[in-house]
Amino acid sequence: MGKMNRILLASILSALPFTLAQSGSNILNFIDPLIGTVNGGHVFPGATLPFAMAKAVADVNGEDQGGFASDNSNITGFSHMHDSGTGGSPSLGNFPLFPQAGCSDDLLDNCVFAKDTRAIPRINGTVEAHPGYFAVSLASNIHAEMTTTNHTALYRFTFPKTPVEANATLSPLILADLSDLPNSRINGSIFVDDTTGRISGSGTFSPSFGIGSYTAYFCADFAGGAVRDTGVFMNNRAGSEPKNLTVVQDGINNSPEILPAGAWTRFHAPGNSSNQILARVGVSFISVDQACSNAETEIPDFDFDAVHTAAQQAWTDSLGVIDVTPGQGVNSSLQTVFWSGVYRSALSPQDYTGENPLWNSTEPYYDSYYCIWDSFRSIHSLITIVDPVSQVRMMRSLVDIYRHEGWLPDCRMSLCKGFTQGGSNADIILTDTYLKIKSISDGMDWDTTYAALLTDAEDEPKNWAVEGRGGLTSWKNLHYIPTDDYDPYGVGPFTRSISRTVEYAYDDFCIAEMAQALGHTADAQKYLERSKYWRFVGAA
Ligand SMILES: *[C@@H]1O[C@H](CO)[C@@H](O)[C@H](O)[C@H]1NC(C)=O
Ligand SMILES: *[C@@H]1O[C@H](CO)[C@@H](O)[C@H](O)[C@H]1NC(C)=O
Ligand SMILES: *[C@@H]1O[C@H](CO)[C@@H](O)[C@H](O)[C@H]1NC(C)=O
Ligand SMILES: *[C@@H]1O[C@H](CO)[C@@H](O)[C@H](O)[C@H]1NC(C)=O
Ligand SMILES: *[C@@H]1O[C@H](CO)[C@@H](O)[C@H](O)[C@H]1NC(C)=O
Ligand SMILES: *[C@@H]1O[C@H](CO)[C@@H](O)[C@H](O)[C@H]1NC(C)=O
Ligand SMILES: *[C@@H]1O[C@H](CO)[C@@H](O)[C@H](O)[C@H]1NC(C)=O
Ligand SMILES: *[C@@H]1O[C@H](CO)[C@@H](O)[C@H](O)[C@H]1NC(C)=O
Ligand SMILES: *[C@@H]1O[C@H](CO)[C@@H](O)[C@H](O)[C@H]1NC(C)=O
Repeated sequence: MGKMNRILLASILSALPFTLAQSGSNILNFIDPLIGTVNGGHVFPGATLPFAMAKAVADVNGEDQGGFASDNSNITGFSHMHDSGTGGSPSLGNFPLFPQAGCSDDLLDNCVFAKDTRAIPRINGTVEAHPGYFAVSLASNIHAEMTTTNHTALYRFTFPKTPVEANATLSPLILADLSDLPNSRINGSIFVDDTTGRISGSGTFSPSFGIGSYTAYFCADFAGGAVRDTGVFMNNRAGSEPKNLTVVQDGINNSPEILPAGAWTRFHAPGNSSNQILARVGVSFISVDQACSNAETEIPDFDFDAVHTAAQQAWTDSLGVIDVTPGQGVNSSLQTVFWSGVYRSALSPQDYTGENPLWNSTEPYYDSYYCIWDSFRSIHSLITIVDPVSQVRMMRSLVDIYRHEGWLPDCRMSLCKGFTQGGSNADIILTDTYLKIKSISDGMDWDTTYAALLTDAEDEPKNWAVEGRGGLTSWKNLHYIPTDDYDPYGVGPFTRSISRTVEYAYDDFCIAEMAQALGHTADAQKYLERSKYWRFVGAA
């Protein structure tokens, strides 16, 4: 793919005010993941690999869709999966870890457990964010660093020799919380192994901008300190018995006030002078066993620096298909904006292949299509050109979702159907992929793709709030979507009549292009006609 990318890019970049040549690992110096972490930017600034499921960062109170914000908010923990750029409710952020250097007076109950009581300020000026790496110091003088592989986060906590907690000597306690960023837990269970300190568990949560629920699993192992004792917590109380905890939906403490619950492992002071404890957290949507085996396979030896180096290499390889030599008048901040934007276009969709509990398939499974009504004209246009291998895997996954759920998504997250915004814009990215990179689209089933497009264009789903298009009868007969549309054929938000009209027209134009290329000339003519219906807006 490299050769083709370079050819395509040379022609694109020659239109930009650059001449070609900035490349290799040098690129990473121009990436600032913290851009967009103020004023509601909602971006994920933490450690991850291109399009990977594991995304580790410090989570904060308040402005927290991407987990972290560059403001004065307090840190509630460190979690292992995130989305980037969600505008509405936060998502993911499941099973955060939270470290404490010691409990005041060495009494377990003097440690803090619940999210609202443990939230702690950061030390100003300590945040460091680079591709594959994130670090911050807590006001408790604990320095937290993190890096990731595809399904595993690796944290390195450096503890102070003397804890800030009163009358405490160094005896680090790390808890894992059965919560997520939106506090959407429906139920969950957790188990701590008294011998190894391993904490594992599962929880059922709600997606941020869709319907249904999803279940996630995690498996946390530790290195660097001998296990002193273990147990569970509920509210702000903890004990060393039992070792298991199950919380069901209790009918009182429903979202957003879920009951604080989780497990903890306490260590003797780390055995060497660096005062470090490493925490390795594998995640899965299949089972606890798979979360553990993901972690054991991907990070067998807790080698933080090796995982970090591999992550940097993955980003260098991914972004290295682009070369830039700054021309005159191109200062370093403009280059930072450019490379940081390219970097950010490779965070989502996320590769959950092998982690889809909904159906068994040999096709790739990607999730976090946030949301196709935006991404069709932004990141996917770029991914198609700079990383066609990933684009094709994402498109195969969309078609497989159609195969198993009957419809292409307009948005999808956390294994759930996301809400539509009016159009069926997967039609656009599938057509774009066909027209631009069909010759290298190994594994695409274009006949099924075309059938999926026709389903969007012809069949109204019962719930067009989450798939397909509403008002199709009006579209076919009146040639526009009226306000107050008479549509007894399905349910959805009966609003946006103008934008739906314009979007259906563009979606149908794309279907016409695909039909033409596939040799379905009658269809091509039909959808080309329908693509002109936007002209009926305002023609009362
Ligand atoms: C952060 O936590 C500190 C105490 O640890 C508290 O004094 C402060 O009000 C909190 N800040 C916010 C924004 O909640
Ligand atoms: C840290 O910076 C914030 C502004 O981002 C400021 O409000 C806060 O007072 C600072 N905290 C300390 C301890 O200096
Ligand atoms: C991580 O996943 C990507 C596909 O999303 C794959 O290309 C890559 O090889 C994986 N990395 C490892 C170390 O398995
Ligand atoms: C610390 O220990 C001293 C001596 O035992 C005691 O007087 C004091 O109350 C303790 N402080 C706290 C905050 O627990
Ligand atoms: C948790 O909730 C999910 C979804 O409602 C349900 O399928 C599952 O059985 C529940 N598990 C427990 C342990 O209650
Ligand atoms: C101390 O232990 C940590 C965690 O296992 C390890 O990363 C570090 O290299 C060790 N430091 C020394 C000086 O041995
Ligand atoms: C606790 O959880 C572990 C791991 O899931 C399981 O093997 C064990 O049976 C559980 N014990 C109890 C008492 O529920
Ligand atoms: C860099 O160049 C851009 C575009 O010309 C300009 O807006 C910006 O102020 C410059 N930044 C610096 C630090 O000079
Ligand atoms: C997929 O296959 C596995 C292994 O055969 C099985 O345990 C699982 O239930 C299957 N999942 C679905 C959704 O059919």
